[in-house]
Amino acid sequence: MSADHPYLSWALRYVLDHVPQDRDAPAFHASRAEAGTLTDAEQELVRAYPESPTDGDALRRELESLLDRHLINGRSPRFQNQLFSGVEEEALAGSFLGIFPNNTISTREVAPLPSEMETAVTSWLLRALPWDAAKADGSLTPAGSFSNYLAVYLARRRATGAKGAHVLPYLALFTSEAAHYSIPKGADLCGISPENVFEIGTDEHDRMRPDLLRVAVARAIESGLIPFFVNATMGTTVAGSLDPIAEIAAVMAEHEAWVHIDGAWGALGLLGSESARFRDAVAHGDSLTWDAHKGLGAPVSLSYLMVRDAGALDVLRPSHGGGYLFRNLDAPREEADLGLRSLYCGKPFVSLSMWLLWKAKGASGLRAHVDKARALTLRFRDRIAESPLYDLAHEPETWAVCFRPKGGDGGQESLEELSERTRERVNASGKWMINLCPSTGGRVFRALFVNPLMNEIHVNELADHMEASHPDAV
Ligand SMILES: Cc1ncc(COP(=O)(O)O)c(C=O)c1O
Repeated sequence: MSADHPYLSWALRYVLDHVPQDRDAPAFHASRAEAGTLTDAEQELVRAYPESPTDGDALRRELESLLDRHLINGRSPRFQNQLFSGVEEEALAGSFLGIFPNNTISTREVAPLPSEMETAVTSWLLRALPWDAAKADGSLTPAGSFSNYLAVYLARRRATGAKGAHVLPYLALFTSEAAHYSIPKGADLCGISPENVFEIGTDEHDRMRPDLLRVAVARAIESGLIPFFVNATMGTTVAGSLDPIAEIAAVMAEHEAWVHIDGAWGALGLLGSESARFRDAVAHGDSLTWDAHKGLGAPVSLSYLMVRDAGALDVLRPSHGGGYLFRNLDAPREEADLGLRSLYCGKPFVSLSMWLLWKAKGASGLRAHVDKARALTLRFRDRIAESPLYDLAHEPETWAVCFRPKGGDGGQESLEELSERTRERVNASGKWMINLCPSTGGRVFRALFVNPLMNEIHVNELADHMEASHPDAV
């Protein structure tokens, strides 16, 4: 332990000790029951108010024990609870180094190199999109939810800019029942009244039904509302399904509504060999949410809102104030401070994680990653399809497989209870952590295959573990 920097050297050693074990690591270090509950002594340690300094050696020892016992390992391929799983070593290194200078990327004056690198990453993302890259742009945000909020905000500004601020109470937003909750929340943040948010019904694979959208839009117009925004999800949160984006855009076309594509999960497909169906979908959008921490191996959380018309981001310039920071407000777009295209001011240099990852792997490496995720998804899908104990709930369109246990008395309540009991058994040992998620026809298990460490051995182990955890397993 270095005497000069005891905390830093301890933290770096902790990381270096743990990362090499990730491929074989369980989702929990301790058993599930132990990891989920802090002992009285641990709670006391966490909550006790530190009026005077704490002895460094003791503090590091105690904290290490807390981390070991209670931190769930979202780097492990056995962590299946949320859509992010796994982080690439290069991206983790980039994120450490990005935080290290303790700087922001708001202005070129304080961040000449970070501004170049962030712009480079945005331009690499644009290469994958079917838009005119010279006219399009992107803005880095702290999470997929923020990218969605930003999309609603840009659309709201466009609508009120064109029609006048008095239309705000009449603006109507459309999304689907299976869309992420950040869309209605974004509407609320942007002053759209909840009665003007229409959650459209879905088909049996959680995809928005364009026929129901058409009816809802017509009714909204009849009652004096102005359709200004539709969200189509490319990779729904549970089933990973793709909304029929071309048909949705066609319904909205005559109303000049903003078409947002929430590709927080699905945009990953733009980098794989089967990118055509994702590109075709994006062709219909005004904006696209793209999460680098879901599937691409960036640490939680790093997202981009990509916009077809770069000028749409101009509304993010400070309406007043900001003179203490921005000195070159008239600079052309290519030379402008990135803070002028951002939802927030002091933003850390997180894009170094993406820059380093992309440089290290190359586009071919990222393509191989996406293709492997798809192959593993299909392998697991086949295991479930041939299992006597589970039913496939949806045909996987991306990198998630949804399935349900067979059994019970056929009623919904008994299926829910069976699913719950199965989940408890799956997660009990602490090795695997898998989620039960609401979906059309009741809750489903959702398994994910984007973790960069995941291989066929994990896929088979998960399928075997699911079989063994089913209450009817012999
Ligand atoms: C489709 C979709 N959009 C947006 C989000 C929100 O992303 P974040 O957790 O980065 O805020 C999620 C999260 O799961 C999602 O599945």
